[in-house]
Amino acid sequence: MPVFRFTVNGEPREVDTFDARPLLEVLREDLQLTGTKYGCGEGQCRACTVLIDGAPALSCITPVRSAAGKRITTIEGLARDGRLHPVQQAFAQEGAMQCGYCTPGMILQTVALLEKNPSPARAQILQALNGSLCRCNGYPRIVAAVEFAARLQRSMTAQQEVVHAAE
Ligand code: FES
Ligand code: FES
Repeated sequence: MPVFRFTVNGEPREVDTFDARPLLEVLREDLQLTGTKYGCGEGQCRACTVLIDGAPALSCITPVRSAAGKRITTIEGLARDGRLHPVQQAFAQEGAMQCGYCTPGMILQTVALLEKNPSPARAQILQALNGSLCRCNGYPRIVAAVEFAARLQRSMTAQQEVVHAAE
């Protein structure tokens, strides 16, 4: 079987597997990164979202060969030095989860959105998360969490700029 190499959450990894195998399966079963969830398995719910080179991708319909040589981020890769990523922090503080099954995918979609647009309007948030399904129907809190995450990230960026200016 071919060997595929990529970076997962900053670490170089390699797997020896079939080239058409879904990336989701490789992450969960070979690399034991079970934070990425299997929902529908056919690209319809976004529970399996990961970032590939910073862009959201549905790992259930992404063959592992497509990820070769790329930078993959899963939910396990967001926290730094024991501190939650601001988007994780916002989801927790807003209580934007019930069973939590959709949450890793929602958070990664949000990370990608805020990377492109640090101040999204509500309509832009709805558009970005359209297609990310929550079976618990917690959408109002999820939208509130995205808005909070945007505010949090902007204030952290402003604080960092003040620190840099003082150095
Ligand atoms: S599990 Fe991938 S989109 Fe549903
Ligand atoms: S919190 Fe249960 S599916 Fe979204």
